[in-house]
Amino acid sequence: MDQKVFYIKTFGCQMNVRDSEIMAQSLAVHGYIEGMDIEGADLIILNTCSIRAKAEQKVMSMLGYLRKNKKNKPHLKICVAGCVAQQEGRKIISKMGHVDLIIGTQNIYDIGELLEKVCKEGPQVATGLDDKYDIPNLIPHLSPLTPGSSTNTVPFRKFVTIMQGCNNYCTYCVVPHTRGRERSRNSSDIIDEVEVLVEGGVKEITLLGQNVNSYGKTNSVNPLTEGYSFARLLRQVSETKGLRRLRFTTSNPKDLTDELIHCFEDVKNLCPQFHLPVQAGSDSVLQRMNRKYTVQQYLELVDKLRRCCPEIALTTDIIVGFPGESDQDFEGTMNLLENVQFHGSFSFKYSDRPGTRAITFTEKVDESVKSERLARFQARQDEISLKRNSEYIGQTKTVMVEDSSEKGVKSRTDTNHIVHLPISASLKAGDFLDVTIIHAGQHSLRGKM
Ligand code: SAH
Ligand code: SF4
Ligand code: F3S
Repeated sequence: MDQKVFYIKTFGCQMNVRDSEIMAQSLAVHGYIEGMDIEGADLIILNTCSIRAKAEQKVMSMLGYLRKNKKNKPHLKICVAGCVAQQEGRKIISKMGHVDLIIGTQNIYDIGELLEKVCKEGPQVATGLDDKYDIPNLIPHLSPLTPGSSTNTVPFRKFVTIMQGCNNYCTYCVVPHTRGRERSRNSSDIIDEVEVLVEGGVKEITLLGQNVNSYGKTNSVNPLTEGYSFARLLRQVSETKGLRRLRFTTSNPKDLTDELIHCFEDVKNLCPQFHLPVQAGSDSVLQRMNRKYTVQQYLELVDKLRRCCPEIALTTDIIVGFPGESDQDFEGTMNLLENVQFHGSFSFKYSDRPGTRAITFTEKVDESVKSERLARFQARQDEISLKRNSEYIGQTKTVMVEDSSEKGVKSRTDTNHIVHLPISASLKAGDFLDVTIIHAGQHSLRGKM
C-alpha cells in the first residue's frame, strides 16, 4: 500500500486538539502518516472553530490560500472538520469548490472511510448530529507516528474528553449548535483511557468538557455514568498510579458544587488552578447571557475556592460589548476584575454568531466602544497579572518540562504558569524539577535551576 501523508491544522479549543488526535489515529489505520507541513501533504485537514466570526474568517482565508496548492497538486485532498464544518456544511463546498470533504463534530471517527468514498465518488459532506449519539471509545496513540507533529506537541500532557456537547444555550454561544446535546462518556472508559495514557508515560491529564460540572447529569445514553458526580469521577481518576498532575476544563459557575471545591483541599495531584469563566460583571448582562448566576454568587465561589486552597490560581473568560452592555455594566466587569484579581484572563469582543439568540438582540454595541472596553480591560488585567506573577519571585516551584531545544527550555508550574529556563542539554520534555523563580512577566515567568 502506498503511504499518503496528511497534515492537520487545529484551530479553537482543547476539544478540537483531542479531536485532531482522534482523526490522526483513524487515518493511521487507513495507511496515512502524519507530516510536518502543508507542502508535503497529500491530505490537508483544517479542524475549525466557529466561536467568534474572526475564528471562522481565519479558516475561510486559509481555504482560499489552499486553492493554488490544489492546482499544483491535483491529487491533493482538502478536508474541513470541526465546528465551522458542522455549522456551514455543504455551503463551504459551494463557496470553495476545491474542498473534498466536510466532516462534522460527531463524524470524525469515520474520516478514513469517508476519504475512500471521496476517492471513488467525489466530494462528501458528513455532518449528522445525533442526540442519542454515544461517544466512541478510542484509546489514544501512545507512540505517535511523527514526534513533534501538530497532534503531538507535548506528549507528556494529554487531554481526555469526558463529555461532549452542551445544553446550556448561553445566548451568545454556538457550541450547543456545533457540538449537539450534552452526553457523558462511561466512567469506566474514561478511567481505562487515563490508565493506558499514564502507563505509557503521560504525566499530566486534563479532563475535558464544555461544562464538566454537569458530568453524568444529563445522560440519555450511558447507564454507567449514573450516580457519578464530576467530583467523584475526578477523585477516582486522581488515584491512577503514576499520574503526577490532574486538571480539568471548563466549568460553568452555575454548576460548581462544594463537593468539587473540596477536592482542592485533599486531592494531592489536582493542580491548584481553576479556569472559571465569568463572562461579565453585571447581573443584567449575565441574565441576558442566560448564565444563571449573579456577580455576588460568583464572588462567593471565588471566596470558597480560596479558603480551601489559598494558592489557587484563578483565570476567567470575559466578553465585552454584549448587546445592551452600558457603560455602567462594563464598570461592573472592571470592578469584578479589581475584586477578584484574576491571575489571567481571556477577553473577547462580543461577536454575533449564526443560530444564537443574542444575534436577534437589537441593542448592539459599537465596534469602537467594544475596542475601547477591551483595551481597558486587558491593560488592567496585564497590570494585575504582572503583580500576581511577581509574587512568585524568590519562590521555589516544581515544574514539568514541555519543550527543550537550542532556543531554551519551556516548563509549567502546577498553577499553570509557563516558566522559561536557561538552555540545558540534560533536560527533556516530561522531566520534573524544582526551580527558583527569578523574573516575572505578564504572561510567563523565568527561573533558574
Ligand atoms: N464552555 C465554556 C466556554 C467555551 S467558549 C463556558 O461555559 O465557560 C470559550 C469562550 O469564548 C467563552 O467563555 C466566551 O468568553 C467566548 N465566547 C463564546 N461565544 C462568544 C461570542 N459570540 N463572542 C465573543 N466571545 C465568545
Ligand atoms: Fe457555550 Fe455556555 Fe455551553 Fe459554555 S456553557 S459551551 S458558553 S453554551
Ligand atoms: Fe471553537 Fe467548537 Fe471549541 S466553536 S471553542 S472549536 S467547541
